[in-house]
Amino acid sequence: MSLFAELPEAEIDAVLVLAQAFQADSRADKVDLGIGVYRNEDGNTPVMRAIAKATQDLAANEVTKAYIGLGGSDRFNTAILDLLLGSDRNTSRIRAVQTAAGAGALRLLTEMVKAAKPNATMWISDPSWFNHAPIAETVGLAWTSYTYLDADTQSVNFTQMCADLEGAAEGDIVLLHACCHNPTGANLTPAQWDEVTVLLKRKELTPMLDIAYLGFAEGLEKDSYALRKMISDLPEVIAALSCSKTFGVYRDRVGAAIIVGETAFAADAARSSVMAAGRVNYSFPPNFTAEVIANVLTDISLREEFESELEQMRKRLIANRQGFAAAARKHLGDGRFDYVAEHQGMFSRLRLDSGTVPALRDNYGIFIPNDGRINVAGLNPEISDRVATAIKAIS
Ligand code: LMR
Repeated sequence: MSLFAELPEAEIDAVLVLAQAFQADSRADKVDLGIGVYRNEDGNTPVMRAIAKATQDLAANEVTKAYIGLGGSDRFNTAILDLLLGSDRNTSRIRAVQTAAGAGALRLLTEMVKAAKPNATMWISDPSWFNHAPIAETVGLAWTSYTYLDADTQSVNFTQMCADLEGAAEGDIVLLHACCHNPTGANLTPAQWDEVTVLLKRKELTPMLDIAYLGFAEGLEKDSYALRKMISDLPEVIAALSCSKTFGVYRDRVGAAIIVGETAFAADAARSSVMAAGRVNYSFPPNFTAEVIANVLTDISLREEFESELEQMRKRLIANRQGFAAAARKHLGDGRFDYVAEHQGMFSRLRLDSGTVPALRDNYGIFIPNDGRINVAGLNPEISDRVATAIKAIS
């Protein structure tokens, strides 16, 4: 009997199914507003200039590809902590482990949590990134959800979010999107982050921050607010950083698991647990692009070039949001999508009747996931007009 004969086809999440459908579609004017990759005005995802230069330089000068260690590149880990927290931070209780992108960091941190507190529950926003709950489930950690969005205003339902988190038990983990919430685009204000921090402290909950869009909301420094605040006020913090979007290195898989312990000893123990999880998943994280990023961050002129390109990307997202809200007003005759201009990051969800998403895809070649999430980077003035007129025609 064949090993695979009875094996059912594995389910992959909706955004990846959509990406396959988009690739298979033969229409020349198809529009991809699905998977979260940055796109420029022409719909391309170019290599960032500073990354391209540092890549060429490293390729020309790399002298070995021998293993480094389970924690990955120390230069990268230090540069990333400097980026997130500034170089004058108190390092004694803060650790970083280079990982295979943000998903790798989430996975290893979740395994560490499972080893440290097998009965903890992970609290995940409703809605959240497609992959959050499956990671908890695969690791065998219980999870539940907390209210996040007010459906009428498409802004954070902060009162209900806090009320739900009051139900968490001491030692539970609260997964929070540090900026640019995926999929809603609705985010907490600094004052709300302060309030959540007080709640976590009072109830002895540990935050797990997912930082996948650093620099896309209000800039590198302001987007680190939640992380910095929690590290300063709480005994323990864990965070998963993805470099995919911020540095445009999606397929190279670079990220970091960040661990803040109550003491240096506790931080070291947690770091060793994360590295041990890495060992049985993929052994060592990939090095090349992590080293490229370390070089960009530590070279004054490359760093400047990187920051200015990231800033251009951020501003383009804001302009796209405003452009879409204006196009929707013009073609639909009301402000139902004004909230898109208020949101931050790569995504917002369009409130659409059921049937509109498939009709947009089948009749107009506009691809968005079933929950109505759009990748704002995929818009330009012409596409915004197309989406708005198509919604008008369908409804
Ligand atoms: C997304 O949400 O589209 C991105 O984070 C890509 C992914 O891996 O799902």
